[in-house]
Amino acid sequence: MERLTFAASILDGLADPVILLDDKRRVVDGNLAAWALLGPEPKGRDLSRSIDSPQIIDAVDAVLAGASSERSEVFVPFPIGRSYDLNAWEVLTQAPRKAVWAMLVLHDVTAAKRVEKMRVDFVSNVSHELRSPLSSLAGFIETLQGPARDDPEARERFLAIMEMEAKRMTRLTNDLLTLSKVESGEHIRPKDRVNLRHVLNQVVAAASVRAENRDMTVELEFEEEVADVIGDGDELNQVFGNLIDNAINYGREGAPVRVAIRAVDTIPGITEPGIAVAVENQGEGISPKHRARLTERFYRVDKGRSRKMGGTGLGLAIVKHIVVRHRGHLAISSTPGKNAVFTVYLPRADRK
Ligand SMILES: Nc1ncnc2c1ncn2[C@@H]1O[C@H](COP(=O)(O)OP(=O)(O)OP(=O)(O)O)[C@@H](O)[C@H]1O
Ligand SMILES: [Mg+2]
Repeated sequence: MERLTFAASILDGLADPVILLDDKRRVVDGNLAAWALLGPEPKGRDLSRSIDSPQIIDAVDAVLAGASSERSEVFVPFPIGRSYDLNAWEVLTQAPRKAVWAMLVLHDVTAAKRVEKMRVDFVSNVSHELRSPLSSLAGFIETLQGPARDDPEARERFLAIMEMEAKRMTRLTNDLLTLSKVESGEHIRPKDRVNLRHVLNQVVAAASVRAENRDMTVELEFEEEVADVIGDGDELNQVFGNLIDNAINYGREGAPVRVAIRAVDTIPGITEPGIAVAVENQGEGISPKHRARLTERFYRVDKGRSRKMGGTGLGLAIVKHIVVRHRGHLAISSTPGKNAVFTVYLPRADRK
């Protein structure tokens, strides 16, 4: 009896559902994870009434019909789509009533599959992003070696385009390196005290020419006393550099960009006091369907437009990772047709 309780407690501690089925495919027993998967009152009922997966039912049937074991990967659409490694094998019951029962174990591989898909998508995105400037460069080189060899005017024009493409590739590789550096250090929280007034003044000065070109101004609004934050000065410079660049690039020409800094009692999702920096631009804004995906690598609302400006689509992914590393929070809000606001929350340096 004691041994049984011990075994049951081990089974209940497993995250994978373990289910015992009789020769009529009825649920005899299971662990806690199994009850969570199967829903209310599964015991004594046919497994197919509790789980909506023909693949699982087929595997169990195969075992009950004499196959000694079955392994496969299955997808269960309900209640939320999940993928499992299925393992089922026969269990011979004791005399007097000898029968073939089945043991079923489902190992959840949803998270691993998601990571694998991200990795594959990422490699294909990077190749795609590099291929277009490279093929454009190759095309222009060919033209310069051939038809445009003796055409100084065309040569100048093509060289300017080639320079732009080469710069974009350089930026892409730099951004990729930054992203991988930030990601690999994400678990280590920065320790320095950073004065945001100082960082923002620098960023705004660096962006002033780009703003002027679009007839825009960048206005900084501070509350009187703004506490320091805990952070990495270079990384925060990149965060606000990216957000202010975006505000200039995607905001309405001629309208000001506002950067407002204020203290907040709590950072959303974390009960810690912090500093909020809101970067706001006027303009068409971002519709809700795009908003949630903006921080994904290479995600752009308008690919052509971002490319034309030399964008790589990695800026906000870098921002997001840096903010996570700082144990802060990034909030994106927008009234479509009116504005877009990117707010970065960072922990204060003087918190108790
Ligand atoms: N302030 C904004 N207003 C409207 N759309 C924005 C704004 N900021 C970003 N976006 C949208 O989000 C997309 C992703 O931005 P992100 O900064 O990651 O890439 P990018 O600006 O295209 O290129 P880069 O990597 O060079 O910054 C942009 O392409 C744009 O569609
Ligand atoms: Mg950008």
